[in-house]
Amino acid sequence: MITLSVIKADTGGFVGHSAVHPDMLAEARRELGRATASGLLIDGRVASCGDDISLIMTHTYGVDAGLIHSFAWDTFRATTRIAQELRLYGAGQDLLSDAFSGNLKGMGPGYAELEFEERPSEPVLCFLADKTEPGAWNLPLYKMFADPFNTPGLVIDEKMHAGFGFEVYDLYEEKRIVFDCPADIYDMLMYIGAPARYVVHGVRSKTLGETAAATSTQRLSLIAGKYVGKDDPVMIIRCQSGLPAVGEALEPFAFPYTVAGCMRGSHHAPFMPVPVEHAHPSRFDGPPRVVCLGFQIRGGKLIGPRDMFDDPAFDRARQQAGEVMDYLRRHGPFEPHRLPLEDLEYTTMSILSRRLANRWTPMTTEVATPTPPTPSPVP
Ligand code: 13P
Ligand code: 13P
Ligand code: MG
Ligand code: MG
Repeated sequence: MITLSVIKADTGGFVGHSAVHPDMLAEARRELGRATASGLLIDGRVASCGDDISLIMTHTYGVDAGLIHSFAWDTFRATTRIAQELRLYGAGQDLLSDAFSGNLKGMGPGYAELEFEERPSEPVLCFLADKTEPGAWNLPLYKMFADPFNTPGLVIDEKMHAGFGFEVYDLYEEKRIVFDCPADIYDMLMYIGAPARYVVHGVRSKTLGETAAATSTQRLSLIAGKYVGKDDPVMIIRCQSGLPAVGEALEPFAFPYTVAGCMRGSHHAPFMPVPVEHAHPSRFDGPPRVVCLGFQIRGGKLIGPRDMFDDPAFDRARQQAGEVMDYLRRHGPFEPHRLPLEDLEYTTMSILSRRLANRWTPMTTEVATPTPPTPSPVP
């Protein structure tokens, strides 16, 4: 069995929240090189999307492994030190704790991990996002694994026909449920259509008994109790031979659907699929970006990456994302561009509510009319 772990954190932005400084990427690469040489990792790659660094790693320690998580934590501490030296923006932004304890759960960095028996050919896709939250994967996961208009394999491939199990988390009440699709599709959509709260954590093939998809599901604001930047989630998809074909897994992103995030993590904006060289959101800290790195895994080694959205077939999605962005921007501070109030509770909203509490009065009370100033006596 091997484990593929994608662990990510924003440890400082260059410039503002737009990208990662090359010195930080070089430091992360040095650390990965050392960990591979020492035998901790079978292989590893450093990647980034916007101001978030991802460590893409293969190893034999399974998911939630303390050794692997503490290695990622130490690497992010090292890149934070560089961000601090260069006074980059939000240095150490996603490291919510001072000390590492056991694994990364609740500590800030996000992670998606899959443990599996390597198949004779093992194509995997690693999706990395910036300026959005984990529920952003709900729509494409539904399309990949449950919608035959996206994935003809669900109809045509005997190994896919029985469908997939979706593990969904309720991030507010910290509960989980498994939906058996296609039978439970309508029930599931009721929940995952509300991606701020319900997030698909993993997808499993009923026929193969194999886990095919994993996402990072933590919400930084729910951990920290305040706004500390967006989660900027990652996702792993295993493809082909009874799982969605690579093209079926990419197809949902031809539609630049709307996600929560963008400027100050407080706006709806279109999700733009881009090649790695364009994954640096600058206009209005958006539109939110997604990149996809494709690998073949052989003996645990990562063959790749291929930059999967570096394809003119996604030009129209990028063009449409620009148009939708223009349209939404014209709403300024109004919904539905701005997020609804319940999603802003970790920002200024709670402070504002406390400040104005005494100025709100029942509508039945008489409104006090401001008294005009007393005229000064005529001399
Ligand atoms: P600050 O400039 O106060 O950090 O807020 C703007 C921003 O970038 C939100 O993260
Ligand atoms: P990040 O979550 O990418 O740091 O962005 C924060 C933000 O507030 C952008 O405006
Ligand atoms: Mg940032
Ligand atoms: Mg980010």
